[in-house]
Amino acid sequence: MILITGATGHFGAATIDFLLKKGTPAREIAALVRDEAKAGDLKAKGITILSGDYNNYESLVKSFKGVDKLLFISGNDIVNRVQQQDNVVKAAKEAGVGHVVYTSFVRKNETETSPIYIVAKSHLSTEKALRESGLTYTILRNNIYTDYIPMFIGQNVTETGIFFPAGDSPVAFTLRNDMAEAAANILSSDGHENKDYTLSNTEAVTFHEIAQFISQAAGKEIGYVSPDSATFVEVLTNAGLPAEIIGVSAAFAEGFKQGEFSSPETDLEKLLGRKPGSVKDFLAGVYGE
Ligand SMILES: NC(=O)c1ccc[n+]([C@@H]2O[C@H](COP(=O)([O-])OP(=O)(O)OC[C@H]3O[C@@H](n4cnc5c(N)ncnc54)[C@H](OP(=O)(O)O)[C@@H]3O)[C@@H](O)[C@H]2O)c1
Repeated sequence: MILITGATGHFGAATIDFLLKKGTPAREIAALVRDEAKAGDLKAKGITILSGDYNNYESLVKSFKGVDKLLFISGNDIVNRVQQQDNVVKAAKEAGVGHVVYTSFVRKNETETSPIYIVAKSHLSTEKALRESGLTYTILRNNIYTDYIPMFIGQNVTETGIFFPAGDSPVAFTLRNDMAEAAANILSSDGHENKDYTLSNTEAVTFHEIAQFISQAAGKEIGYVSPDSATFVEVLTNAGLPAEIIGVSAAFAEGFKQGEFSSPETDLEKLLGRKPGSVKDFLAGVYGE
C-alpha cells in the first residue's frame, strides 16, 4: 500500500493522479486526510481514505500500519511544523512503514543567517530525524514552485510592472506538477532507497527575464524594479497588505537575491525522462491573451 499524506492539498492530489495515470491501481493507494469532508474527489477515484493529523501521534500510528511506501508531504503550519513532522517520522517508525519519501526544500545556506530560515528550519530538522530514524527514506529537495510566481509579483502586474526586491539572481522555478509526477515515479519504482534528489528545473531565470516573458505573453511592455527590501516593505505596508504576507514575500525575495534557489539541476529531468516545464511556457499560459 502507498499512503499519501497532504492528499487534500495540491501536491498530494497531483501525485495520486499521476500514480493512477501511470497504472498503480486505486486499491493500492491510500490518502491521509485530517478532514474527511475534503476527501470526496479521492473517494470517487476509489482511493482508501485514512484519518490522521500531524498533531495527533496516535492517529498517525494507526493509519500508517501496513504501509509499504509513505509520501510524507511537509505541512504548512510553519510555527508548529518541527513538532508535527517529528510526530510523522516517529509514527512511521513505530508503525513499521517500509519507505518514507519526504517533500523537503532546496537551499544552500543551512544556518540561521538564511533569509528563509523560518521555512528551512523544520525541513532540516525533519531530514535529520528521518536519517537518524533507521527508516528507509528518500528526500526530495523541492525547488520553489513556478506556480507561485504570480503570487510573488502581485495580481496587477500587467498594469504596474514587477516591483519585487529579488535583484538579478537566477531562480530555478519548478512546476509543482512536475515534482508531483517525479514523486509518483519514485513511489512506483525501485532504486530510490536512502537517496536525496534535488527536484529543480534545468534552467534558471531572473526576474528581468520573467518581466520579458510576461511582456511577450501580454503583448505589452512590463518592467521590473528591484527596490531595497526596506522600501518594498514600506510601499506594501502603505498599500495596506498584511504584515505577515509582506514578511514572507520579502524573505523569499531576499532568498532569491542571495541565490538560495538558483541552481539548475538534472535530477528532476532524469526522474521524468523529459525536460521539466519552462517558466516561459507557464507565464504564457497565465498572461497570454
Ligand atoms: N516548494 C515550494 O515552492 C512550496 C510552496 C508552498 C508550500 N510548500 C510545501 O509543500 C507542501 C505541499 O505543497 P501543496 O502546494 O500541496 O500545499 P497545500 O495545497 O497547502 O497542501 C498542504 C496539505 O498538507 C495538509 N496538512 C497541513 N497540516 C496538516 C496536519 N497538521 N495534519 C495533516 N495534514 C496536514 C493539508 O491538509 P488540509 O487540506 O486539511 O489543510 C493539505 O492537504 C506544503 O504543505 C508546504 O510544506 C512548498
